[in-house]
Amino acid sequence: MTFAKYRSIFTPSTKQQRIENFENYWEFTQQHGGELLENDRDLAIKRDKLAYFKNNPVKLRKPLADPDAFYRNYVEMKDKPESLDRMTLMLTGIYKFARHEWVGIKGAWDVVPDMANSHHIEDKISRVHLAEEFCHVRLFDEMLLTCGLDKVEWVPLSPWKEKVYEQFPKFPGFLMDTPAFVTELMGVTFYCHLYRLFDEVLADEPEVCERLKALLDEITIDEIAHVGQRRNFIGDLGIKISQWLVKPFYTLFFDDIPEVKHLFDVPKMIKDGETFDFNSIPEDMIARSWVPSYCKV
Ligand SMILES: [Fe+2]
Ligand SMILES: [Fe+2]
Repeated sequence: MTFAKYRSIFTPSTKQQRIENFENYWEFTQQHGGELLENDRDLAIKRDKLAYFKNNPVKLRKPLADPDAFYRNYVEMKDKPESLDRMTLMLTGIYKFARHEWVGIKGAWDVVPDMANSHHIEDKISRVHLAEEFCHVRLFDEMLLTCGLDKVEWVPLSPWKEKVYEQFPKFPGFLMDTPAFVTELMGVTFYCHLYRLFDEVLADEPEVCERLKALLDEITIDEIAHVGQRRNFIGDLGIKISQWLVKPFYTLFFDDIPEVKHLFDVPKMIKDGETFDFNSIPEDMIARSWVPSYCKV
């Protein structure tokens, strides 16, 4: 019999606990990502990790049968999703998820204070957090490259959607903190389900399967830490609201990506979000990530 080591992410916390946790997170994040390379929107340790992957490439044993099907549908689904094979659907789905992330951080990077103008620990944390998100887009791009897709472009959303994303980080904390937290939680849920999908879709491609998992792990480890960090911005009422928001948020977001319902069990993803507590995350990933003190038993 095993005992749960962690409490629900929705566990209440005191103001004092959250102050201490921000200090603790700030220590963690500096050693985790290494030096912030602000001009490049990058972090030294993460840059080295990506370079390792690039210098040790792996390839599909059998190249994609129909790369044009990917290029036709990756920005917008043009074909009927049912007509596409699961590999193509998975890759266009990955792109669309990552694209949302990219658009969100692009808008935020220009409006949040840079490190020289970050006077509070929360601002410094947020700056590094955004740099990590840019690293994730590079890792996603590397996943697509690994599958032979070297003509992928990161395309902006429609102008009004871009505007919405740009306005979001300017909202006051009491409006912004709960959706920002639920978005991070949705990321972890998606990545955990994607990890299992790799086993199914890439059963005949063991090297690429292992590589995509390694690339995804780099992202997921950061996202687990982001979940705790964004949770730490939220008080007792906000955390209850966050739990209520999981279902509508996940539903809305995944409805916008036509691939998702063909590849994933969305009700299970919603349930996983509502009950998230770190206990299902492998210990070696937790060891490289960060969990708020009040979520530890
Ligand atoms: Fe991310
Ligand atoms: Fe994140």
